[in-house]
Amino acid sequence: MNRSAADRIIVALDGMNPEQALGFAQAVPELLWVKVGLELFVAGGPVVVQQLRDQGKRVFLDLKFHDIPATMAGACRSAARLGAELITVHACAGSEALRAAQAAAAESAYAAGFQSPTLLAVTVLTSWDPARFASELAVAEPVASYVPRLAALAAASGIGGCVCSPLEVGALRSAHPEPFALVTPGIRPAGAALGDQQRVMTPAQAIAAGSSQLVIGRPITAAADPAAAFAACCGELA
Ligand code: C5P
Repeated sequence: MNRSAADRIIVALDGMNPEQALGFAQAVPELLWVKVGLELFVAGGPVVVQQLRDQGKRVFLDLKFHDIPATMAGACRSAARLGAELITVHACAGSEALRAAQAAAAESAYAAGFQSPTLLAVTVLTSWDPARFASELAVAEPVASYVPRLAALAAASGIGGCVCSPLEVGALRSAHPEPFALVTPGIRPAGAALGDQQRVMTPAQAIAAGSSQLVIGRPITAAADPAAAFAACCGELA
């Protein structure tokens, strides 16, 4: 798909209260996509999503739903009604819950006059150390093959994409061609501080590896001039 550089970059509004998030979004007029995570949503509620949309921003609602099918469906119905265009769910909720979530999101978006949102499956959180994951959760399969297994489950359940680390993009993209979305955090522009991210790619590397969109937080939000940092990331993709 031919997308503009700005359409490829989703800025994570982490560590901000609603007022700061709205101020930030306004200060970066070229910014198209924002990610509203648990911290901001729990503080600001649905109204912050509405206010960001009123500014013309497109919203990735990253609340990582994981529950029984009826509750997943209800949550996705409400998220789609808000106009969220990307919504995260945990793949390990299972096929029944994933199908119910996808169907409810599509139906609710249609009723509200929006395009159907893309649900994105989270496979294994990258914060897990593989050895600890195996021992604490008693999962015998190595994380390296468990991730593609969960991605395949999500795809077979009608989910439109996955969130994955830059290191997983290549393998997932070969198994799941476009338009399956692969949305990738762990991005650092050349020369940027790593922070707590260990395994990173630059924006251009991640897109070349098969990411459809990138999630970038602190390299833009903590920059002295966020608009310039956003423009520089776009420039790397141009
Ligand atoms: O500031 P930074 O660019 O590291 O922010 C990355 C964003 O992506 C954060 O919102 C973080 O929670 C999210 N994320 C991540 N790694 C994952 C999944 C989500 O860094 N595996």
